[in-house]
Amino acid sequence: MREISDKYQLDDVIITREQIEDRAAEIGRNITRDYEGREVVFVGVLRGAVMWLSEVIKSVDLDTTLDFMVVSSYGDSTKTSGVVRIVKDVAEDMKGRHVILVEDIVDTGRTLSYIKAHIAGKGAASVSTCTLLDKPSRHEINMDIEYVGFTVGDEFIVGYGLDLAQRYRNLPYITSVSAKD
Ligand code: IMP
Ligand code: MG
Repeated sequence: MREISDKYQLDDVIITREQIEDRAAEIGRNITRDYEGREVVFVGVLRGAVMWLSEVIKSVDLDTTLDFMVVSSYGDSTKTSGVVRIVKDVAEDMKGRHVILVEDIVDTGRTLSYIKAHIAGKGAASVSTCTLLDKPSRHEINMDIEYVGFTVGDEFIVGYGLDLAQRYRNLPYITSVSAKD
C-alpha cells in the first residue's frame, strides 16, 4: 500500500508486468492468425493505450500501419463525464482497411462504441477491438470485444498506461486506487 495523496492510496499489484507481457504476446499471435494475408491498421486510443499497443504489436507478424486518436471522456477524477469528444482524429484513410482499435480499458463501453461507429463511418472494411482491460460489470452498452487482455472488477485501475488525473501511467503493472478513509 502506498499513499499517493491525502485522498488516495495505491493498493496491491493486481496484474504483474510479466503477466501483461505474456498476454500481449499471446494476443499478438492470435491477431496474426486471425488476419493472415491482410494488412491491418492499429488505431491506438491515446493516451492510455500506448504501453499495451507497443507490447501487442511486437508479436504481430503482418503488414501493419499505426495510427492514433485522442478522445476525451473523463475529467481529472475517477468519475465519468459521460461525454465522448474527439480531440485528434486518425490520420490514415480508413476506407477498405481492416482496423483494430486498441484501448486501455472498456468501462461503460461508451467510448469504444462511439469510436467504433466513427471508424466504420469512414468506410473501414472491418473494425475490431483489442483492450488491455475490460470491466464487464460496468458495461452500459452491449458490444463485442474481440481481444481482451484481462477482466477486472469494479475498481479504479492505474498503471500500464492507465491514469488517475494523468498520473501513474508509467507504472509497469496494474494496481487499483482507493480512497483513504
Ligand atoms: P468508458 O467510455 O466508460 O468505457 O470509459 C473508457 C475510458 O475511461 C477509458 O479509455 C479510460 O481512459 C477511462 N477509464 C475507465 N475506467 C478507468 C479506470 O479504472 N482507470 C483509469 N481510467 C479509466
Ligand atoms: Mg483515461
